[in-house]
Amino acid sequence: MSSTFLLAKSLAAAVAAVAAAGLAGCAAPAAPVSSATLDAQANAMMKASFRDQGIAKADRINQDMAQAACSSDKPPAEPTAKRIEADSLASIQWPANGIYLGNWKEGEKLAQSGRGMTWTDPSAATKDNGGNCYNCHQIDKKEISFGTIGPSLWNYGKLRGVKKIDDPASAAIVQYTWGKLWNAKAYSACSNMPRFGHMKLLDADQIRDIMALLLDPASPVNQ
Ligand code: HEC
Repeated sequence: MSSTFLLAKSLAAAVAAVAAAGLAGCAAPAAPVSSATLDAQANAMMKASFRDQGIAKADRINQDMAQAACSSDKPPAEPTAKRIEADSLASIQWPANGIYLGNWKEGEKLAQSGRGMTWTDPSAATKDNGGNCYNCHQIDKKEISFGTIGPSLWNYGKLRGVKKIDDPASAAIVQYTWGKLWNAKAYSACSNMPRFGHMKLLDADQIRDIMALLLDPASPVNQ
């Protein structure tokens, strides 16, 4: 008999002994707890663990429909996913003046900045927030530190054939990019990307500047 087998046997005996001792201590085996009860207990624990501090309010832990549907151990059913995407698309505010692009230099600053929304921040105003894009995306090749949760956005406009920004041939990609930045769930129900416009993390002018970083043929991203 190999020593590994002996060890396995004695371990099994020890586990059985512990289990018997545990059972002996209880009047009856506990009834299985339903997953709904466990969810309620977990939610109550979350609610009890967070409090308002500065601009960070505890109501942030309340999930909206899309967040709740995407927090389960299974992806949402097809009709739910379609509804999240349709509602998100309908919520997008398109630029009122029809101008989609701002200044890529300001856009690069915003893409670099991870500031905002923490309890130490002085205000929740969009002007105090960055876009934190490099945390998840490569954008300009000059930046050596970036996350890879999202796809690389290097050459974003160039790869999609944007040569002149007001060319009608570019309209579809320009609009899609605005929509993606405003509410990423419009195109992918359980997207992990922050909903910058929808959640008031960035305002329309800041989004214009980031749009220019990605799409302006003069932006270093498109060289
Ligand atoms: C927390 C991570 C995260 C952050 C922060 C983030 N993104 Fe994303 N982004 C993603 C992921 C993941 C995807 C791919 C899945 C999807 O489409 O939602 C994505 C997709 C995109 C796409 C679509 C790409 C394509 O080819 O269709 C664009 C454009 C984009 N992000 C731009 C940005 C910009 C600009 C910022 C900063 C303002 C940003 N993202 C911040 C995670 C992030």
